[in-house]
Amino acid sequence: MAVTRTFSIIKPDATRRNLTGAVTAMLEGAGLRVVASKRIQMTRAMAEGFYAVHRERPFFNDLVAFMISGPVVVQVLEGEDAVARNRAIMGATNPANADEGTIRKVHAESIEANSVHGSDSDENAAIEIAYFFAQTEITG
Ligand code: PPS
Repeated sequence: MAVTRTFSIIKPDATRRNLTGAVTAMLEGAGLRVVASKRIQMTRAMAEGFYAVHRERPFFNDLVAFMISGPVVVQVLEGEDAVARNRAIMGATNPANADEGTIRKVHAESIEANSVHGSDSDENAAIEIAYFFAQTEITG
């Protein structure tokens, strides 16, 4: 299986509870390598742009408000079949539906405060990585 990259966000509910290390350890334990990472405070414009595909969804304003409510850690993860591998360890969007042992089952508070974001395709991973990282910020 090919080694690929995906994009991850450790969301404000997790940084607020000092879970950056715990979440990263679960990602690493799932066979993903952190090849770029930075802690940032997103602006409203950044969050609205990132989630533009969800602009018409009823939860859009709440989602943007939540994502700018505190710092996030944006990461590039590398591993075999990274998108699928990351989504497996993340668990379902709603933690109530997430499998045992997944990040969202262990750490998430609600469907909004669900601790992590992960790209849903290789194509979107490339777009999302480029949204937050310069090529020079990503190491092998
Ligand atoms: S859906 O319904 O399956 O299409 O939703 P999904 O694509 O999994 O969710 C897209 C992102 O929106 C967040 N989300 C919400 N935020 C606030 N309130 C509600 N009700 C809600 N439902 C979904 C969800 O966490 C996804 O965020 P990301 O950052 O992409 O994981």
